[in-house]
Amino acid sequence: ASPDDRIRTIARAHLGMEGPLLPILHAVQAEFGHIPPEAVPVIADVLNLGRAEVHGVVSFYHDFRAAPTGRHVLRLCRAEACQAMGGVALADAVQAALGIGWHGTTPDGAVTLEPVYCLGLCACGPAAQLDGRPLGRADAGALLAEVRG
Ligand code: FES
Repeated sequence: ASPDDRIRTIARAHLGMEGPLLPILHAVQAEFGHIPPEAVPVIADVLNLGRAEVHGVVSFYHDFRAAPTGRHVLRLCRAEACQAMGGVALADAVQAALGIGWHGTTPDGAVTLEPVYCLGLCACGPAAQLDGRPLGRADAGALLAEVRG
């Protein structure tokens, strides 16, 4: 099936729900890894909403991404304990080296940078998560070597 058909099927499957838009967007992102631009008019049509309304929801929630992630997804903890243990300097160093901000993806598609608020590793901050793998006492140099390697 074409992406449009797959999106339409997902949207229709949620039609009986109360407040179906967010569950539909989560399901589309689970299927495609992001919300493809063509999803907006299809979902708007199925739910009988304006495109601007659907687009507004997609851009409001940082959970939804308009483009695919990089090959690596690096999350840095921005919660208090890690901030107090070098998290700010770590984030600054990583952002400067990669030339991207939060939610950004490097132009070569190597890495997407996301903030996270506590990974349960507060005792060994600053904490990070690389492709789902939790890392304590995260070091900018080591992280950069991994995502660029
Ligand atoms: Fe960073 Fe808990 S505050 S892991």
